[in-house]
Amino acid sequence: MKGLLFLSLLLFLEGQRSLACPRLCACHGSQVNCSSRSLTPSLLPPTFPAGTTTLLLHNNMLTTLPRGKTLKCLYSLLLFSGSQCL
Ligand SMILES: *[C@@H]1O[C@H](CO)[C@@H](O)[C@H](O)[C@H]1NC(C)=O
Repeated sequence: MKGLLFLSLLLFLEGQRSLACPRLCACHGSQVNCSSRSLTPSLLPPTFPAGTTTLLLHNNMLTTLPRGKTLKCLYSLLLFSGSQCL
């Protein structure tokens, strides 16, 4: 019983978190703007709001894309420039 409560709480918190705008980004409707924030792969927010349709990640220092991001509604992802290729 305790385990179930704990699991429910965990799922609840997880749900809350995935709806919130990531601390390092600015959200306008379904657009999440994380551009020009000197983001490295490890600084990239662990979750994005569930209904995110546009994710701006350009002008950062992203050299790899992390795995495990579920963005069902995403149709636009900006990821150009910002990283040095050497
Ligand atoms: C995204 O955020 C950056 C940095 O704050 C800002 O310069 C840019 O205008 C924003 N872009 C959009 C489309 O809101």
